Amino acid sequence: MTYYDKNALKLSHAHMKAHIKPGNTVIDATAGKGRDTLLLSELVGENGHVYAFDIQKDAIDATTQLLDTHNRKNVTLLLGSHEKMKNHVQKANAIVFNFGFLPGGDHSIFSHSETSIRAIDAALDILTEDGFVSLCIYYGGDTGFAERDAILTHLEALDQKKYTVMLQSFYNRKNCPPLFAIIEKNR
Ligand SMILES: C[S@@+](CC[C@H](N)C(=O)[O-])C[C@H]1O[C@@H](n2cnc3c(N)ncnc32)[C@H](O)[C@@H]1O
Repeated sequence: MTYYDKNALKLSHAHMKAHIKPGNTVIDATAGKGRDTLLLSELVGENGHVYAFDIQKDAIDATTQLLDTHNRKNVTLLLGSHEKMKNHVQKANAIVFNFGFLPGGDHSIFSHSETSIRAIDAALDILTEDGFVSLCIYYGGDTGFAERDAILTHLEALDQKKYTVMLQSFYNRKNCPPLFAIIEKNR
């Protein structure tokens, strides 16, 4: 694999394609425009299921429209915060976060470190032993650095006996390129 033609989102999609299997139950924790939800829906297939969360009705509407266009039926869309995911899903093979604000939407509504960290912990509670949590972490721009710093501090503190955290950065790129992180359970 090459990296010069990648970014955090492409790494995230490549990881999903490599690891998500037909029949899996997965969560898109930040539905947004629905592009990740659509990919997850295709990867888990007719016998799998996707639960997708967003706090904005505009995002749920955009995702509904995209899924309808592609005739996808295996998705439950939930208008609400991802920190409540355990109220809806008992076990998931993958939980995908793509933090930040809705592309083309209101930039004053974005993910915040307190809820993001609670959601990461909830995701680890319901993650299957062979599953993964992935995170695209945006920073700079409208949202600043606070969420990135808090999430990285939290990931660094996860017990190394229980979890492995892999962090990827396009280190020499300018303008705050998003980070990509994976959390796995040690087996
Ligand atoms: C960068 S966008 C996601 C992009 C999306 N995955 C896609 O494929 O288009 C981030 C989304 O996270 C949502 N969000 C922010 N805080 C949230 C929370 N606590 N729970 C669920 N979604 C949240 C925002 O409303 C926004 O739509």
